[in-house]
Parts: sequence; structure tokens; C-alpha cells
Amino acid sequence: MIKLACNSKVTLIIVLFFCFSSTYGQTYGRNGMVVSDNELASQVGVTILKKGGNAIDAAVATAFALAVVHPQAGNIGGGGFIVYINGSGASTTIDFREKAPLQATPDMFLDKNGELIQGSNHEGLKSVGVPGTVAGLFMAHQKYGELPWKELVQPSVELAKNGFSLSWTLASHARRMQDNSTPGFMKDFFKNPEGDLVEFGETWVQPALAQTLERIRDKGRDGFYEGKVAREIEKFMKENGGIITRKDLKAYTAIERAPIKGTYKEYEIYSMPPPSSGGVALIEMMNIMELANLDSIQFNSTAYVHLVAETMRRAFADRAEFLGDPDFNPEMPLAKLTSKEFAQKRYQNIDFERASVSDSTRFGQLYDGTNTTHLSVIDKNGSAVSLTYTLEYSYGSKLGAPKLGFIFNNEMGDFNPQPGTTTSSGLIGTPPNTISPGKRMLSSMTPTIVAKEGKPYLVIGSPGGRTIINTVFQTVLNVLEYEMPLHRAIEAMKIHHQWLPDRLIYETDLLSPDTQKALEEMGHTLYGAGNLGRLMGIIHSRDQGIYIGVSDSSSPDGAAVGY
Ligand code: DON
Repeated sequence: MIKLACNSKVTLIIVLFFCFSSTYGQTYGRNGMVVSDNELASQVGVTILKKGGNAIDAAVATAFALAVVHPQAGNIGGGGFIVYINGSGASTTIDFREKAPLQATPDMFLDKNGELIQGSNHEGLKSVGVPGTVAGLFMAHQKYGELPWKELVQPSVELAKNGFSLSWTLASHARRMQDNSTPGFMKDFFKNPEGDLVEFGETWVQPALAQTLERIRDKGRDGFYEGKVAREIEKFMKENGGIITRKDLKAYTAIERAPIKGTYKEYEIYSMPPPSSGGVALIEMMNIMELANLDSIQFNSTAYVHLVAETMRRAFADRAEFLGDPDFNPEMPLAKLTSKEFAQKRYQNIDFERASVSDSTRFGQLYDGTNTTHLSVIDKNGSAVSLTYTLEYSYGSKLGAPKLGFIFNNEMGDFNPQPGTTTSSGLIGTPPNTISPGKRMLSSMTPTIVAKEGKPYLVIGSPGGRTIINTVFQTVLNVLEYEMPLHRAIEAMKIHHQWLPDRLIYETDLLSPDTQKALEEMGHTLYGAGNLGRLMGIIHSRDQGIYIGVSDSSSPDGAAVGY
């Protein structure tokens, strides 16, 4: 019936509604939804759902597909996090964050005077953390998946082997990467077997990546961490100055952890615990906002922006002081930081007339790059997956073994590189996140699921380095407090404050000149930015029995696909 309507030329509105089930940037589905940074990847996920796969199956398949079609952040050479709640309300998380190699040392990025060699922690093979993605996706599937593993990896093998039409975005990256500053691996990355650069709309094939994915398809985790792929990683590292060995790869394990939980009014929030700082900071900020009388504060007003910025400032100071890899910081006060009493303490010292001053003798941190990717999935039983993973920078280290066809992360840059040195420009040297062999670097990724009466209601996440925590926070607040429809919550103005450097970043087009002036008079240092966040979300509207998916309009190739 739907097909008939689509073929009719007269019923344009019906066509739009049924063929795309999408209006005002929102896509509707009855049985399931996948939202990701690439439409082909979202379609792979929905195909898995239609085959009877659950949300975990679809998320795993979508993540592998993103490693092929969204290589700037989709990956098998990086790491990330999954938050999962099944339709009955049971929740868990999978931590597949990269680890420092066994030969890593706290001072590996310092010169002989103990100063950070600028950029060294993000460049070259020493910036590569031991990848976690394949182990994490495999663990998620082993524990919670339903379809056979091979069926989840096969679509990505095909996308790599048979190729797909190169998008305008990837074609423009490919062209930009032809200058002399680009490592050879990346310069050749978008070339066809004849050695020519693939252009927009032409088919791009990745035969080496297809072979690596075939090994993962056939051997699971061991197809990456043992055997031929592991040997080739070790060889490439040895020959090019890297320190990851087969021992590192063999020792890598993903870890299942209990989610960080909080509440906001009648809603329950589930997010990622350390080694991500995202969940703790999100819940601390939501608790602070719950104390404010938001009924009397107009959205986007000076009072609103000031309150939100001061809340962020406090949460980011606590992030820097307390958070790191839990396996190396067993004493982290997570229960305290996410408690309502602690929020009271933080809320009480906000001055509603003046900006506080971030004190560089306390804590702070640098910005990260701006490429990571988030996907949200929900299946017919209401089970939901929120998955964020990354290579850190766009195309990570821009290095990889040509025979393997995938890109290595540069995640070592997320450690505090110069122990003991914290500066007002944002360098941070606090102990919980200094480098140790086998340690996971602190992350800001904030894959989140909000539940109502125990069942998933909102599935959300974003890329954006440290801005992730704040863009997810504001989107959740927009939905829960300001009752915005999801597309408006995602598109609404976002701000970012991260304690140090002490500045309030705002989306230039969206904050009025009067508000800017008033904020400056209160003592804020403003800093305009084009866009903050690239959110991928799903709402489960139980009353109407539908899923509503939204891919942020700032994602050029992103799409929500429902069925
Ligand atoms: O784990 C983190 O917090 C960062 N490595 C994420 C990097 C990132 O989001 C860059 N882009 N959007």
C-alpha cells in the first residue's frame, strides 16, 4: 500500500509522509530506528533490525559500516562506549576505550626539561592507543546480540569490497589531503587501485579494509587482536617508530561496567561512567539545574546562559580534579559527585550577578579535536543503544598499515601530558589522568539514555571533544525541562564552558547582541563558534507508539532511518 502511494504523482504529501516518514527534520518509525552520521550505515542497521536483530545487533552492524563509509571517525582502529537498556529496563555499558601501550610512560611526550613537546601527544605512532573497537563490539554481541556475528560484519565487508558512491564531504576531504603536510597513507587513502583520486559520485573501494573486515567476520575478536592483523600491526609499528606490540593487542579487553545513573524530576538518566567523564559531569549538571527555578528563567536569556555556563564551569573543574581510569583510580568519589547533596553545594556558590573566575591553580584542560561519531538505535521491543566512538582527531593519527586499510587513532592525546602542570590556557596535569602502561585515557564521550518508568525514552549522544558533555547536557535539558520536540532541542543554541580556558563559547548566530553585552558586563569572556555538537537522537513516544529520530542538520551525510 505504501508502495502504491509512493508511485502516485498526485499525492505528494502522502508520498513525503509514507516514503520518507520524515517531516521537519524528524523521521518516524513504528518498529525501530537507527540514527547515525551516514545514511548508508543507518540503512545497514535498519536492515539488521528487519532481519530480527535487536538494538545491539543493529548498533554493532552500524558501527562496522561507519568504519567503511565514515572513516573520519567511524573506526576499527579507535575506541568508545556503549550504553544499553533493554526493553525490560535492564541497563549496562561496554567500555572499549583505548589503552596506553605497555611501553608508555608518564613523560613520553616531554622534552629533557620536562616540558610538553607541543603536538607530540597527537602526532605520529606514539600517539596511538591500543584500539578497543573490535573487542567492544564483539563483547556487546557475545553478551547481548541475537543474530550471528557474521551477519553483522558482512554488510561492511561488502561496502568495502564493492565500494559505494563517494559523498561530497569525503571527496572534499580527499582533495584537501593532497598537500605535502599529509602523511602518505592518508594521501593514498581515497585513491582507486589505478592510483587516481576518487571523485565525488565515483565508486570508492577499499580492498585492504575489506580483507581485514573479513578476518574479523570469520574469527571475531581474534581476527583483529591475534593472527595476521596483529602481526601486521606490530610489524608496522616497529618499522615506523610505534610502540604497540602483539602483547598489547592480546592483552586488550573491553569491560562491562554499571552505568552512571541519575534522575531529573520524573526521568532516569543512564550514561557512561569513567573512563569517560561524560556521565558524571552530565548528572552533576542536571542535578544543579534541578535546583534552579527554571520556570522563572527564560530559555536563552542572559540569566539562563549565565546559570548554564556557571554550572558547566563547576562540573568541568570537578572532572579535572577527580576523574580518570577507574582501574587506576579506585577511590574516585563517583557517588558523591552525582548526588543531589553535592549539587546543592555547587549550586549554592553560584553568584547570579557575576561570572566566577576559573582558578588555574586548580584544574582545567585543553580542547580535543572535532571528530567523533555517535549512533542511536532502538528496536521493536524498545531496547536502546547509545554508542559513541572515535579516532580522536578527524582521521585520527592519519596513519595506518597500507595492508590493513584502517586508520589508527591518536587518543594518547587525551591523557594529561605534563604531570603536575595546569595552566590558565588549559593544559592540565592532575594525577587521575596521567599516562601509565595499560591505562585508559579520560574521555568526554557521553552516550546517554533517558528512561521514563524504567523504559528508554530518549537516546542521545554527540561528537565534539569536551563540548560533547555540554551539548548532550543542553539537549537533554531542552527535552526534559523545556519540552522541546527533539529536532528543536538538537538545533537550539548551545554554549560551552569547560572551566579552563576561562571563556564562554557560544554559537555566533544564535545569541543576541544584547545578551552578549549583558554577559560580558557580568564578567564572562565570550568566544563565538560556528556550531557546537552534532547530535544523533531518538525519542520513544509511547503514547503514539512511534519512534522519532533526528540527525543534527550539521551532519552532512547523517540520517535517521526508521521502519
Ligand atoms: O574521548 C574523547 O573525549 C575525545 N577523544 C573525543 C574526541 C572528539 O570528540 C573529537 N570530535 N568530535
